[in-house]
Amino acid sequence: MKFSIDVDAIRKLENRPEAETAERIREIRAGYGSELCLLAHLYQRKAISDLADFVGDSFGLSRSAAAFKGGKYIVFCGVRFMAESAAILCREDQWVIHPDPEAGCPMADMAPMHEVTKAWTTLASLSKTLVPVTYMNSTADLKAFCGERGGTICTSTNAVKTFEWASKEGEKIFFLPDEHLGRNTALKMGVSPDQIVVWNPSDPDGEEVEKYETAKVLLWRGYCPVHQKFTVRDVEFVRHFYPGALIVVHPECPVEVVERADAVGSTEFIRQFVANQTKAGDKIFIGTEVNLIQNLASQYRDRMIAKLHRSLCLTMYQITMGRLLYSLENLDTFEKVSVSPETRQYAKVALDRMLALR
Ligand code: 13P
Ligand code: SF4
Repeated sequence: MKFSIDVDAIRKLENRPEAETAERIREIRAGYGSELCLLAHLYQRKAISDLADFVGDSFGLSRSAAAFKGGKYIVFCGVRFMAESAAILCREDQWVIHPDPEAGCPMADMAPMHEVTKAWTTLASLSKTLVPVTYMNSTADLKAFCGERGGTICTSTNAVKTFEWASKEGEKIFFLPDEHLGRNTALKMGVSPDQIVVWNPSDPDGEEVEKYETAKVLLWRGYCPVHQKFTVRDVEFVRHFYPGALIVVHPECPVEVVERADAVGSTEFIRQFVANQTKAGDKIFIGTEVNLIQNLASQYRDRMIAKLHRSLCLTMYQITMGRLLYSLENLDTFEKVSVSPETRQYAKVALDRMLALR
């Protein structure tokens, strides 16, 4: 079936007053009752999270998709890899709808399969057992690749637990695609820095193979363009001008930022940190996507909550109220997220391994 999106209709919906659009979304949502579940990642704008049945980090959302016992529709406000994970974990008779199918994650796209396969051929030959672990922020194909080879998936919430599991399963861990999360996790587990090496997919032939032989953790050179932008200078600025302020950052930030922060953790960790470990009057600077920060700032008006640096994720922001309404109004003809049966089979193996690890 060929799907088409009426761009003019979406534009018109986007120009309507937000309150009207929200009202119409609520009406449609209510009409579907338990036939539909609306999920939103914590980086979605407030107007969208306010309408969702469940708001969470990528780990929480995959659990919600797997646990949705209701009807046919799962509408996923986030980026493509998250919607794909929901499509892998939900029942086969359920449909996952991603309001903007073009909203991908640049980091997930940094590990194309032809480059991964090339790296694997070299690296697996250097080790008796190489365990592939991919970050949730990856394509369904890469998840399946890891599942098929005895590996798994992690999110920023369960990365340490997953690395501990993988280090018992094999001699070395091959982590893709986020170099920073991989390094921060390995260091947290106590792996020494000289046992952590990076595979550069842009220059695989320039690598000296020997350095991988002694390493414990091999990292793919990928990064999140939003989190990689946080720098030591941003931290020093806050320390200088806001003495006593707290800095909390996501583990996709570079290690030198993570080392200087007061706390580090996933988006869900950050939410809980603000809720449980700060109080009225505190000043908190956060190194993650700006919509989460703005949502927290509007929830906790008695403290100062600010971004560590500009940090909008453009693809998360592609999910607009107009697009969400358009997808809900056209549910039965809107493109559903599809993952081929072979990919689904092994990606599910990897995702189930992850969910079992909790
Ligand atoms: P979480 O796993 O913390 O939800 O992060 C997802 C993400 O896209 C971070 O950039
Ligand atoms: Fe991808 Fe970074 Fe956006 Fe997360 S914030 S979806 S990792 S680009």
